[in-house]
Amino acid sequence: LIKEIYRNKENFKDQNITIAGWIRTLRASNAFGFIELNDGSFFKNIQVVFEEDLENFKEISKLTISSSIIIEGKLKLTPDAKQPFEIKATKIMVEGLSDREYPLQKKRHSLEFLRTIAHLRPRSNTFSAVFRVRSIAAYAIHKFFQERGFVYAHTPIITGSDCEGAGEMFRLTTLDLDHIPRNDEGQIDFKEDFFGKETNLTVSGQLAAEAYALAFRNVYTFGPTFRAENSNTARHAAEFWMIEPEIAFAELEDNMQLAEDMIKYVINYVLEHAPEEMAFFNQFIDKGVLERLENIVSANFGRITYTDAVEILKKANVKFEYPVEWGCDLQTEHERYLTEKVLKKPVFVTDYPKGIKAFYMRINEDDKTVAAMDLLVPGVGEIIGGSQREERLDVLEKRIEEMGLNKEDYWWYLELRKYGGTKHAGFGLGFERLIMYMTGMSNIRDVIAFPRTTKSAEF
Ligand code: 4AD
Ligand code: MG
Repeated sequence: LIKEIYRNKENFKDQNITIAGWIRTLRASNAFGFIELNDGSFFKNIQVVFEEDLENFKEISKLTISSSIIIEGKLKLTPDAKQPFEIKATKIMVEGLSDREYPLQKKRHSLEFLRTIAHLRPRSNTFSAVFRVRSIAAYAIHKFFQERGFVYAHTPIITGSDCEGAGEMFRLTTLDLDHIPRNDEGQIDFKEDFFGKETNLTVSGQLAAEAYALAFRNVYTFGPTFRAENSNTARHAAEFWMIEPEIAFAELEDNMQLAEDMIKYVINYVLEHAPEEMAFFNQFIDKGVLERLENIVSANFGRITYTDAVEILKKANVKFEYPVEWGCDLQTEHERYLTEKVLKKPVFVTDYPKGIKAFYMRINEDDKTVAAMDLLVPGVGEIIGGSQREERLDVLEKRIEEMGLNKEDYWWYLELRKYGGTKHAGFGLGFERLIMYMTGMSNIRDVIAFPRTTKSAEF
C-alpha cells in the first residue's frame, strides 16, 4: 500500500487509510510524535504523525524500533516538507512489541555485519530493494520465455549424472550414518544404498532439458543448482539458481541471439517495474549502474572468438596474475579486462578449446575448438555459459570416453541422438550473477536470501 501511495498520492489525498507495518524510527515529545513506518510493500517508509489526543499516546510514544502496529488515519499531502505526504493517525494498535536489543537500529550497517543477521536483513533498505528486484527479475524471465512459447521444464534436483563432468558435486547418502551400507574396504556401497547407485545434487538441469527440447523444441528450466566448488570468491555460491533454455533445430548463433534478447528483456522489465529501487542502487550502491544498463539495452553485445581474445590478452599491457596462453581457461581478471577495458560492453566469447570445456559441446571443423559461448559482462565477468550440443552420436561417444566419463551413466542422453536427434543448443544463466550485474551489488552473498558458501550455511 505504501508503494501505491508513493506512485499515486493524489488518489489518497485526505482519505482515511489503514496501514499495518513495522516501526523503523520513532521520536516523540510530550505533545506529539513521528513514526517512520514500513509496510513491506516498498523499501521507502511513510511518516506517521500522532498527537496526544490518541487514547494510548503514552504507550505509543515509548514503542521500540521494529514493533509491529496497525495505524488508522488520514493521508495529508505536505508539499512544503521533506517527505511528500504523511499520515495523521487517529488510532494506533500495537500488534507485537519488539525487544530493545533489536540489532537493526537506525544507522548504517556494513554489508558484512548484515550477513550475520540474514534473517533480519531483508528489513533494511538495501536488501529490501535487492530482493524485490530479484523477485521482479524472476517473473520477467518466466514472462520472456512463456511469451515465446517455451515450455517450463522441471528438471530433477537429485541426479545420477554429472552434467559438467567436473566432479564438483554434493554426493547424497541416506541420513542414518549407522546404517550406510559399506563394502569390505569400508567404502560406501551405493548399490545397497537408497537409490541403488551413486547420486548427487544437480550441478545443472541441462541434460534433462535437452531431452525435453527434443520433444517440445523450445524449453527452459529455472531452478536451484549446487556446486561443491571450493573457491571462496564473491561470485561463487554452493547453492545458486540457474536459468537454462534449450532450443532444438538451432545453432550457436540462435543461442547467442536468444541470450541477448533475454538479458535485454529482463533489464528493461526491471527498469520499468522497479524504478525506485534502481534509482536507489544508482545513488547508494553503484553510481552509474542505470546509465550502464540503459546503454546495454540499446546496443548490440560484442562477439569475439576465444582465439582472438587470447591474442588481445597477450598483447595487453597488463601484468595478469595468471599469464595467458592458448588453451588455458580464462580467469576472472581476463574476463573483466576484455569486457571492461577492451569492448566496454557485454561480450560473447565463442569457440573455446575443447580441452577446457564440457563433453557435450559440439566439436568444430578444426577439431580443436568447440561451439561454446560465454557471456561476459562488465563488473561481474561470466554470467552465461552455453553451447551448441554435440548431436553426432559417434563423436559424442568418443568424447565421453576421451574425458574419462562412464558411458553407461549417459545411456539415455546418448539415445537422444539415436531417436531423431537434431542440431540443438542452450545456455545457463547464473541468476545471482545477473542480479549482481543489475543492482551493482558486488558480493553474491548479498543477492541470495540465505547464502551457502564454503564453511558457511548458517540459517
Ligand atoms: O558455465 P556453467 O558451468 O554452464 C553449465 O552449467 C551449463 N550446463 C549450462 C547450459 O548450457 N545449460 O554455468 C552456467 C552459469 C555460469 O555462467 C554462472 O553464471 C553460473 O552458472 N554459475 C554460478 N553462479 C554462482 N555460483 C557458482 N558456483 C556458479 N557456477 C556457475
Ligand atoms: Mg562456465
